[in-house]
Amino acid sequence: MDTSRSILIIDDEENIRKYLGQSLARDGFDVHTARYGKEGINILMRKHMDVVLLDLSLPDIHGLKVLEELKKIDVDSIVIIITAYGDINSAVKAMRLGAYDYLTKPFEVEDIELVINKASRIVGLKDRIALLERQVDRAQQGELITRSRKMLELLEFVDEIAVTPATVIIYGETGTGKELIASRIHRNSERSDKPFVTIDCTSLPENLLESELFGHERGAFTGAVGLKKGLFEVADEGTVFLDEMGEMPLILQSKILRFLEDRTFRRVGGDKYLKTDVRIVAATNRDLKRLVAEEKFREDLYYRLNVVPLHLAPLRERKEDIFPLIEYFVRVLNKKIGRKISQVSNEALKLMIDYEWPGNIRELRNVMESMAITAKGNIITVNDLPREIIGVRHETDFSVPGLAKDGAARLPDFRKAKKQVLERFEKAYLRKLLEKNDWNVSQCAREIDMHRSSFQRLMRKSGFSKRN
Ligand SMILES: Nc1ncnc2c1ncn2[C@@H]1O[C@H](COP(=O)(O)OP(=O)(O)OP(=O)(O)O)[C@@H](O)[C@H]1O
Ligand SMILES: [Mg+2]
Repeated sequence: MDTSRSILIIDDEENIRKYLGQSLARDGFDVHTARYGKEGINILMRKHMDVVLLDLSLPDIHGLKVLEELKKIDVDSIVIIITAYGDINSAVKAMRLGAYDYLTKPFEVEDIELVINKASRIVGLKDRIALLERQVDRAQQGELITRSRKMLELLEFVDEIAVTPATVIIYGETGTGKELIASRIHRNSERSDKPFVTIDCTSLPENLLESELFGHERGAFTGAVGLKKGLFEVADEGTVFLDEMGEMPLILQSKILRFLEDRTFRRVGGDKYLKTDVRIVAATNRDLKRLVAEEKFREDLYYRLNVVPLHLAPLRERKEDIFPLIEYFVRVLNKKIGRKISQVSNEALKLMIDYEWPGNIRELRNVMESMAITAKGNIITVNDLPREIIGVRHETDFSVPGLAKDGAARLPDFRKAKKQVLERFEKAYLRKLLEKNDWNVSQCAREIDMHRSSFQRLMRKSGFSKRN
């Protein structure tokens, strides 16, 4: 893996891109450049940059807008603002938005190097990057894709506690990778060559769950023809993963509690206490503390389980993972279904980054899978995205952008707001029209009495491209 520090220069002045770029490359930076703000955002959506040099006055969009977008997708970049002498106001705004420092034009290359060095020292950039890169390497091994700092730090911790016998509980919304983490804990533990047994607490009714966990003696109940070992016994010396722990029935909770206290249990219908050596990893998408307050979960069991709590962030709080995951799923799915999807268009990627992903990584995977099957071309475009990602909200929301609800705030700039609403309307209208006519451009143009070429121009402007 490339371990040099990456830097992106976003500036419309060719001289700055060229000479500054060359000299930073000599300093060992992996240098990228962009002339336009949107071009810079497109690079940032796909690749983490350690440092971003950002000119505030760009030909297409304002640098502050670029900064805002950047902070949405990659909070860890160090942003250094380049601004014209006399535009300190914007520089101050930029600092409020999370820029690290600013320089006024004209400046010398040494000035930039000085600021970067200062930032590096403060943020511990070099060490941190080396550390993160080691972790990324390791993360990739288990097909657990992430470049989010939060996740990488969690993984570092997971690998530390994996080798201990400690009970672990993993909290996280559905589809955030709880099971993936549980199996990683097992694989990195000394028990890795012993069984890893998963028990989904929602899969069985109460009585069957008990015998599933602890086993039963012969004749313990009707149908119990022979002795059956429970999963705790089967997993001896291994790891038991108690999935959906929040759904465990109260009666069983007390039996699990007793088991956690001394690792002894009785088979259903048995009177002998048996012993087994298992490590417990539990997971839940519920707030156990709340369940305790509602008396649906035993407090003593909560404390027994909550020894090493791990919290997996939802995907919307680590948007920098979206692109690496898309790349990964494209690779995997191409192989699985024999396609040659090469990339995702910039507009499609932007919508995917803006989307909230309530089903998290599982949802992303499913969306990628169905798009990989149905996409017409080798590039996934906005046309291939499911409706919920394109934004039903945007289709119906024609409220004035930036207008505070209380009405007391200043009105937003009229022209800008009008343009935004119109854009939203055009997008929604075109989508409906295209869908209705099965993406037949000539037919659409005819229906709204427009010239075919004008209609195509309109489509391009709204980010639609003809399916081919
Ligand atoms: N970081 C990741 N990299 C690659 N794949 C991932 C990652 N996180 C999750 N996945 C994949 O997403 C899917 C859902 O993950 P997993 O089953 O571990 O989630 P979960 O938190 O247990 O969900 P649930 O609460 O719904 O059971 C799986 O296919 C898993 O392989
Ligand atoms: Mg799960």
